[in-house]
Amino acid sequence: MGHAPKFLAASMVCFGAALAFSGSALADGYDTYRGHFEPLPTLPPIPADNSLTPERVELGNMLFFEPRISSSGVISCATCHNPALGWSDRIPRAVGHEGQVGERNTPTVLNSGFFTAQFWDGRAATLEEQALGPIEADIEMAMSLEDAIERLKEFDVYPKKFAAAFPDDDDPINADNVAKALAGFQRTLNTPNSRFDRYLKGDLMALNEQEKQGMKSFVDSGCVACHNGPALTDSQFYRIQVPGSEDEGRFLVTGDEADRFAFKTPTLRNIAVTYPYMNNGATATLEEAVEIMGREMLGREYSSEEVDDLVAFLHTLTGEMPSFEVPALP
Ligand code: HEC
Ligand code: HEC
Repeated sequence: MGHAPKFLAASMVCFGAALAFSGSALADGYDTYRGHFEPLPTLPPIPADNSLTPERVELGNMLFFEPRISSSGVISCATCHNPALGWSDRIPRAVGHEGQVGERNTPTVLNSGFFTAQFWDGRAATLEEQALGPIEADIEMAMSLEDAIERLKEFDVYPKKFAAAFPDDDDPINADNVAKALAGFQRTLNTPNSRFDRYLKGDLMALNEQEKQGMKSFVDSGCVACHNGPALTDSQFYRIQVPGSEDEGRFLVTGDEADRFAFKTPTLRNIAVTYPYMNNGATATLEEAVEIMGREMLGREYSSEEVDDLVAFLHTLTGEMPSFEVPALP
């Protein structure tokens, strides 16, 4: 006992010295810009009523890849949120049940535990609220929740896995728990340690000069007003005229005139691999996405050099992809 405080004091001195040292070593001329950002943690906040146990994550992983909770038996969450395609689908607008094309581009589910609003229009606040929508949506998986639950009960493995994931429930295979398991799994799909994160943590060589210039433009011209926080989104809604989109966005949720054509700020984490962009997939290039942003959100035209710098910066936001399993069908 007597030694612990001394040890603590000694390590604090070392820590202080390290900080003082790195403080001066960090000077690369961009210190004030770095201060606008924060590295991505390995986990997002975990809600008190859905603890992140390994059993829940494993079950959520199985359900995410389970096509038999769709009415056709062939569409799972991973059909549109495909791990090989940045957990999205690389097409402008999602294709679901019987080949129907939806109105909107599929966002990545990577780092979605960091968002405080889900969907382009924010109609769900949490991943739990979000999870059951796609199963029932006519143009996505087109399956009633009762039927989905009945199907899960038919397999030997699911009753066991639900019981292990929700040990306090007498009848654990229910819609709430499907949502909790899917949400829990998605909270593990994070991408820390991008080059930008390494830079923010003190590795000044992790970004080159052009990428640092892009970071500077991102701050100076105001992108960071909306794209901020660990996932580079404020989860707020802004009016925008995206080329080719007649979608009324947030207005469809609130009925508030001020929300007509307003959409959620998307994450910019892994943006280089989650093309095409915008709520309707209007463009597949980051150059064009940046030009649209300059014009629509900031009322300015960028020079091609500024666009190149910004795009170079955006490429540094690709992190380490999470590990997961494609479960064998039970
Ligand atoms: C047919 C394709 C398709 C399927 C299947 C699908 N999704 Fe999606 N997902 C989308 C589209 C499109 C959106 C955006 C819809 C909107 O904003 O209105 C979306 C949005 C989301 C979001 C919100 C992300 C954000 O940035 O706001 C999450 C989380 C998500 N889906 C998880 C799931 C889960 C879990 C499943 C399986 C239960 C699933 N999706 C099945 C296409 C699909
Ligand atoms: C006023 C808030 C705001 C500002 C400022 C802003 N953005 Fe955005 N950004 C958004 C919103 C909202 C969207 C979604 C637009 C839509 O409906 O498709 C978006 C979309 C994007 C996309 C496409 C993401 C995707 O997955 O489809 C990129 C890339 C992007 N912004 C980069 C930037 C850059 C770079 C800047 C500065 C030049 C910037 N943004 C300034 C709010 C903002």
